[in-house]
Amino acid sequence: MKVLILGSGGREHALAWKISKETNIEKIYCAPGNAGTYNVAENVNLDIMDNDLLIDFVKENSIGLTIVGPEAPLVNGIIDEFEKNNLKIFGPKKYAAMLEGSKVFSKKIMQKYGIPTSRGEVFSDIELAIEFVKSNPWARVVKADGLAAGKGVYVCDDENEVINAITEIMQNKKFGDAGNKILLEEKLVGEEASFLVFSDGKIVKPMVSTQDHKAVYVGDKGPNTGGMGAYGPAPVITKELHNYAMEKIMLPTINAMASEGTPYVGILYGGLMITKDGPKVIEFNCRFGDPEAQPILTLLKSNLIDIIKSCIDGTLDMQDVVFDEGAACCVVLASGGYPGAYEKGKKISGIALADEVDRVKVFHGGTKISEGDVLTNGGRVLGVTGIGNSIKESIDNAYLGVSKIDFENNYFRKDIGQKALGR
Ligand code: AMP
Ligand code: GLY
Repeated sequence: MKVLILGSGGREHALAWKISKETNIEKIYCAPGNAGTYNVAENVNLDIMDNDLLIDFVKENSIGLTIVGPEAPLVNGIIDEFEKNNLKIFGPKKYAAMLEGSKVFSKKIMQKYGIPTSRGEVFSDIELAIEFVKSNPWARVVKADGLAAGKGVYVCDDENEVINAITEIMQNKKFGDAGNKILLEEKLVGEEASFLVFSDGKIVKPMVSTQDHKAVYVGDKGPNTGGMGAYGPAPVITKELHNYAMEKIMLPTINAMASEGTPYVGILYGGLMITKDGPKVIEFNCRFGDPEAQPILTLLKSNLIDIIKSCIDGTLDMQDVVFDEGAACCVVLASGGYPGAYEKGKKISGIALADEVDRVKVFHGGTKISEGDVLTNGGRVLGVTGIGNSIKESIDNAYLGVSKIDFENNYFRKDIGQKALGR
């Protein structure tokens, strides 16, 4: 079978790498891909928001399965369009992807079905929102409703900050129409974890739990990024919390979507805050996390294509989803300056040396090939992933890999996984 993967990050390289080792895979295409997917797939320069173009490409090349990496094509309705053309594709349909595509929709589902989350109120009028904040001191988090490339969330300390955030989103239109509505939320306190499951619309099967590192600097300081590193399993998710997350959050959400008449097929990513009152949902995503996919897919023992097919066919109950007993840790090497302005086109050395280290795999994010050299081409450049029998060993292996790689003005966090070791 031929497979098409959409996206160009570390997540998509990890997907292509995992699938390339599976049986009966004739060819992998990646659109648009990067210098890493180039080694295991054919990169094709297609606009992943152009459904008609993608449908033509898939038909012309007899592609048997399309896998969507990022959220934007899902929210753009790619699944619905492919299915109308009888083409196999993995991910939630447009309405179901609103769990990520609209924070207001997501909050309403959680409120309606009693899924644990923070208090929240929706506003489409700036005056009413500001009025509300003045008399409700719990409202300290401001979220633009729509997709905002991960930047539409303001976690504030006082009323003034909240009002400034509301003004930025609703009056100054910082995120365009994504800010026509906002969600005001209570600020949750605790440790965050990423809890991902596969679903066929009826049941869920969990992946290994992971923890992302969103802030750019050591000690979770500085502005948020797409994620500076991730490891799994996350010890913060004890057996008891795992069961709670499955029974009170993930399965009820899948059931809720079915009750709404919009069954959710794909990956459901619960961004959880482990509060003193138990796990609460911060947000849902409708896809693999990046960088969470890197540790998850290096630990996944089962055949990914089989899992995906069983989700699409509604037979996930028959399918094993088994992970390695060990641990994995991914350290992101970024361009200096990220998540602010940064330069591209720096020559990267040492990737092959790092890949030669036992139990190290380098996943590419923002990279490209030019005249045989691998150059930086984005903010998050590489995800150096170590495997080990313990979290400690996986962290050590990841940083050993990192030490082999160099490019001008590179930056990485030196404390990925430290929270796990503290437990
Ligand atoms: P999101 O884009 O919804 O994942 O939000 C980005 C980050 O903002 C999360 O990873 C949290 O660190 C933080 N955040 C979002 N909502 C809340 C909340 N209600 N309480 C505390 N922190 C939050
Ligand atoms: N690493 C967070 C995300 O993929 O949304």
